[in-house]
Amino acid sequence: MSTSKVQRTYGSRGRRNPEPSFAEPSSPPSALASSPPSTPNIARPSKRNISELLLEENIAPQLPPSKRQKLLPTASKAKAKSKTITKANSKSTPKAGTKTLTQLHFNIDQSIMRTCCLCNLSYTRGAPDDESLHRAHCTRARQGMEWGREEEKDKVRGAETVVVEVASGVKLKGNKKKGRIVSFPASIGGKIGSKLDTLLQTINLSLSAPELPESVLQCSKAYLFLLPHETQSHRERIVGCVIAQHISTAMAVVPPPSQLPLCDTASEAVLPVAVDADTNLFCSPTPLPTPMGVPRLFVPSSHRRLGIAHALLDAAAATFIYGCPLDPQRGQIAFSQPTGMGQAVMKGWGKGGVRVFEE
Ligand SMILES: CC(C)(COP(=O)(O)OP(=O)(O)OC[C@H]1O[C@@H](n2cnc3c(N)ncnc32)[C@H](O)[C@@H]1OP(=O)(O)O)[C@@H](O)C(=O)NCCC(=O)NCCS
Repeated sequence: MSTSKVQRTYGSRGRRNPEPSFAEPSSPPSALASSPPSTPNIARPSKRNISELLLEENIAPQLPPSKRQKLLPTASKAKAKSKTITKANSKSTPKAGTKTLTQLHFNIDQSIMRTCCLCNLSYTRGAPDDESLHRAHCTRARQGMEWGREEEKDKVRGAETVVVEVASGVKLKGNKKKGRIVSFPASIGGKIGSKLDTLLQTINLSLSAPELPESVLQCSKAYLFLLPHETQSHRERIVGCVIAQHISTAMAVVPPPSQLPLCDTASEAVLPVAVDADTNLFCSPTPLPTPMGVPRLFVPSSHRRLGIAHALLDAAAATFIYGCPLDPQRGQIAFSQPTGMGQAVMKGWGKGGVRVFEE
């Protein structure tokens, strides 16, 4: 019979530093932390018997000293431990050289992934890079980015004005505030180009969408809705963005097959394509000539339902092709794989005429 005693520690509660540290184990404290130390039956996903486990536990002292130090219990636990030892000693004195074994429990129940309820971004709690990326993204996704002096200076390059104001004094719904809409080529470069890059990164992250390739930016225009800054008079806030792209074809939105008469569903040629089965968005597979696509549409959450997307889309439809205003109701505009909110805009703004194109 072995003379070794098994010293149980429950969770890492006692080992936690008073201040959060990234050197801390990534797993939160064990759910077993409140279990009384005497409870012998601890659920452990192991098919090995106790003697095998004890043999394995004997390997623990081979850990480097620093790691072993971390595994030591705290002062309060040490007190309890000495009591246990005294009690045990009163019954039988352990032989000299007997090792006190420590049983640890690795708890992987609780996730360290966190999803922000404001911006919906999932990130690793406690990872400095993730935390700062989340902070920056969250602010931009909720309030929008700033449009300042640098961008205003950059709008005139030599003799050419690269940023065009396409609408001014645009009223927000149910609000006294008025903004303006500017437009420029999406491949503009310079200060404005890097601002657009950051804005598109925020949009892509929010939509879980891939980066738009250079070839797409080359044939696209960006439309930004600018609102005077709340505190700084020379600054504006970007409270909406539409990227309008030259496309050739798109598919018309059709009712889901379940709503079609039986005779229509019998023929394979007319079977609609499911773009998003969750939201019941179906399209006719026939490609139809369509001049303008909208691969990105975004309004920061603090400025939604004020008519900003509506105003931006109106401006894009009216000015994307010089001298040729486009009509969404006649199927001249398409969205790329729209989200649920995007579909609501398709219905509300396009009255069902907006098509879908593949990015
Ligand atoms: C989709 C989005 C751009 C809409 O911007 P917005 O400025 O709030 O839209 P508008 O206020 O111009 O709304 C125009 C119409 O679209 C419809 N609509 C817009 N958002 C809606 C919502 N959340 N629920 C229901 N209908 C909505 C309404 O018919 C609305 O008109 P109404 O307010 O008179 O009823 C914005 O919610 C957003 O950025 N969402 C996250 C990104 C995204 O999903 N983009 C779409 C990619 S395809």
